[in-house]
This record gives sequence, structure tokens and C-alpha cells, in this order.
Amino acid sequence: MNVIVVKDYEALSKTAAGLIQSQLMWSPDSVLGLATGSTPVGTYKVLIDLFKKGEINFEDVVTFNLDEYLGLEKSNEQSYYHFMRENLFNHVNVNEDHIHIPNGISDDFEQECLNYESDIVKAGGIDLQILGIGHNGHIGFNEPNVEFEAKTHIVSLDEETIEANKRFFDSVEDVPKKAISMGIKTIMRSKKIILMASGQGKADIISKLVKDDIRPNLPASVLHLHENVIVLIDEAAASKL
Ligand code: GLP
Repeated sequence: MNVIVVKDYEALSKTAAGLIQSQLMWSPDSVLGLATGSTPVGTYKVLIDLFKKGEINFEDVVTFNLDEYLGLEKSNEQSYYHFMRENLFNHVNVNEDHIHIPNGISDDFEQECLNYESDIVKAGGIDLQILGIGHNGHIGFNEPNVEFEAKTHIVSLDEETIEANKRFFDSVEDVPKKAISMGIKTIMRSKKIILMASGQGKADIISKLVKDDIRPNLPASVLHLHENVIVLIDEAAASKL
């Protein structure tokens, strides 16, 4: 695990965007795995700026998002579909047909999960996966005690995750209790992974991630088994290392 500590959120965002830019420079048709949450928002802003300056091109890029809440229509402002449109896709030249976000509204979620998984395989696998991390160590929506062998699947959100994510909803009752998420196995198949974290609030979980053993109740710890992972954090998130 390659841990890179940068000064603050701004530096974190610039560094992550720079790594994505280099990836696309070498492989313009890369498959990117994208994350939601507040952490990558700054990175997406830098990517939009680079695009406006003509310094990055998404024309041939294919994207797969990590997860989506169950039961939220695409038009719902809290859906990850809406989040991605607002924070990135509406502002760059990603080809509409190249965007993949798990479908939170489906009559057949089992099939939906299988299709998502096979679409990733058909695209040639994920070249670069961006991850945030939950306070309980989740990646995507793979909550503690997830099966490390899980592929894209339906998950029940932990109380802690519902609490953490209620800030985006009118009330805690409005936070969906389930989601569709790439599994740990899906994430581990990515060729490169960048896990990002910012702020004092993430210092405890980052310390556990870096120092503790691999264990299913800390889902992100599985990344120790991946050969190409960058843990990109700011000084506040690194303060307990
Ligand atoms: C959500 C997402 C994760 C994200 C996590 C952390 O639950 N499903 O993919 O990494 O929250 O979010 P934040 O970056 O806002 O701390």
C-alpha cells in the first residue's frame, strides 16, 4: 500500500485529478471506476477545469460507478446518478453511452447485478478505480463483514452509514436502507486503485486501515492484498498514522 500524504483537501483534489489526467494521457480509452461522497467532489472540480482548458479529454473514456441507493429515481437529487451528472458528467465530454451507474430502480435486481458485472468485464475491466472510505471502513457500500468474494450485489446499509449520509437528506428516515454496490471482488479486479480521504474525521479509520491486519469487519483492509493501491490522504486524515 503506497500512502501519499498531501497538505490539504485542495492538494488532495489536485493530486487525484493529476493521476487521472496521466491515466487518460497514456490510455485515452481507459475504464474509470468512479465514487460519490464528498471526498471526490474537489477532484471532479479540478477535472472539469482541466477539461475547460483543453487539458483532458473524456471522449473515449468508459465509466462505472461504485454504487447507487435502492429505490431512488435518477431524477431524485440524492441519487448517485444525479450526483454524478451534477458534479462531473454534465460538464465534460463523456460519451453518454459510456456511463454506467448501477440502477437503483429495477424489477430484477439479481439480473441487474449480473449485468453490471458482465458490462465491466465486456469493457475490459476497470483500469483505475477511485474510492472514498466510510468511517466504518466501507468502500463503495461494502459494509463491515462483507464477503470478500462478493461481486456487484444488494447491500443493507449500516446504522453508522445511514447516520453519516443523513446530512444529504431532509431527515434520517429519508435515507434509503439498501443499495446496489460493486462487491469487494469487483473492486479488487481493478488494475489500479486510488483510495482518498480528507479531514480529521477520517484519521481513525485511516490509521486502522494502514496499521491493522486484513479483516472482513474493515472492508477497505482487503486493499493490502492489491498490488497497485495508492492511499491518498491529507495531513488531517494522516494525523493518527
Ligand atoms: C458513501 C459512498 C462511498 C463513500 C463514502 C464516504 O457511503 N457509498 O463510496 O466513499 O460514503 O463518503 P465521504 O467522502 O462523503 O466521506
